[in-house]
Amino acid sequence: MKNFFAAVIFIFGLVTFSSATAHDLDFDLSSGVEKILTCNGRKVKFIAYENISYVANPVGDNQKLSVYIPAEYLRGETINGYSAKNAPIFLPNGVGGYMPGKILEPVENDRMSGGANASLVALSRGLVVISPAIRGRTTQVDGVYIGKAPALIVDYKAAVRWIRHNRDRLPAGDVEKIISNGTSAGGALSALLGATGNAPEYLPYLEKIGAADERDDIFASSDYCPITNLDNADAAYEWIFCGVNEYFQAMWQMNPNARAEDANNPVAVKKASVMTAEEIRVSKILRDAFPAYVNGLKLRDEHGKLLTLDKNGNGSFKNFIKQKYVESAQSALDGGAYLSNVDWIKIRNGRVVDVDLKKYPASVTRMKAAPAFDKLDLSSGENDEFGTEKNSPRHFSTTLFNDNLADEKIIAMLNPMNFIGRVDVTTAKFFRIRHGAADRGTSLAIPAILALKLQNHGVNVNFFSPWARGHGGDYDLPELFDWIDSVCKK
Ligand code: DHB
Repeated sequence: MKNFFAAVIFIFGLVTFSSATAHDLDFDLSSGVEKILTCNGRKVKFIAYENISYVANPVGDNQKLSVYIPAEYLRGETINGYSAKNAPIFLPNGVGGYMPGKILEPVENDRMSGGANASLVALSRGLVVISPAIRGRTTQVDGVYIGKAPALIVDYKAAVRWIRHNRDRLPAGDVEKIISNGTSAGGALSALLGATGNAPEYLPYLEKIGAADERDDIFASSDYCPITNLDNADAAYEWIFCGVNEYFQAMWQMNPNARAEDANNPVAVKKASVMTAEEIRVSKILRDAFPAYVNGLKLRDEHGKLLTLDKNGNGSFKNFIKQKYVESAQSALDGGAYLSNVDWIKIRNGRVVDVDLKKYPASVTRMKAAPAFDKLDLSSGENDEFGTEKNSPRHFSTTLFNDNLADEKIIAMLNPMNFIGRVDVTTAKFFRIRHGAADRGTSLAIPAILALKLQNHGVNVNFFSPWARGHGGDYDLPELFDWIDSVCKK
């Protein structure tokens, strides 16, 4: 009798488990609610389908997404030259500080963009918006930390797979025109999604959570100040900041979702600290490690010129970075900005003719003590991101550490640089990368290296460093959506 009940329970378990698979991923059209918001003085009507599970075997509550569809498409109308059939799908993530990312529902008054947020602007311009919530480094269920690396990218990929699974059920949106968007850690995530399409190493993780069996490559990736390439970001940071020993901590470290670093954010708090002798010592080791890393990448500029550094950190790669700041300052100057008080650029007859990278770090100030990311005492958000299921932080860079490192395969899975150019990976065709000229969150060299490697492998990259911008994103939404139109209508 006991065995009989056990068998019944077992079979019941099997049935409930299998019934919780594939068909649960089917999009249900009946759940939509009509909403109206105002964007730049215009009413935007859309249908919201909210909090839909995008995996069959969810862990925790994060793996849900919302779909927002411009109402016109349900009436067979067009917007901005798009129809229900060819409207691009905007896929913004709300990750910041490698913390859990919330669904980015359309809102009228967003702190980051200072008005309608990216999701609402996207709808107003005829894009379908699908935004997933995503596990982060503090996500836990019963004390088990289920959101450490590589959970965030696994979830973002699962959302892409859910979209493709529902290509014929979604009332609008072209599943071959998916465009990711994110800022900071979310920008890193967006870049990673763009760079790792269909890479096999994520498969076991995707299968475990019951992601749809579909492709996860995307069309285009928009990345604001990506805090990426973490295993080399410390060396890149010291290549710029070594010699500046005072640093100013920003609010985000207390509240990872506050973007106090943004120059436009009034709550920014600056509190000066001085690096310890040990931090100053490792700063030099990291700075000296950077040229070998750059030279190993064999990057080339748009004219095919090899970008390298000598052992003192000088050379064609440095000139390339200087040129990015020149372009940034020139565009501000052309726009009427007053720059004569900026001591690290040289202007002659209305032209920015030189940048002094020695003066630059003292002027913008250092934000993070060395090492900027992989901390000696394991105290950074990134150490936490690479932590264990029991929440013990770990190292992830071998320049200084050989103990207590995260699994090298997982470290590799968080770095888009490892995937670009691989024959078994489909990279997004288009990238837009922005990193403010006053951003101290990571070295400009980091997004520049990413842009160059993508470009060297035939990807169309729009890379720019907006003048005076600190750490932030979504500050130029008209330009972002113009860019999206330009690549989608090519
Ligand atoms: C973020 C900022 C950082 O300086 C960092 O190291 C990681 C993440 C962020 O704002 O997402």
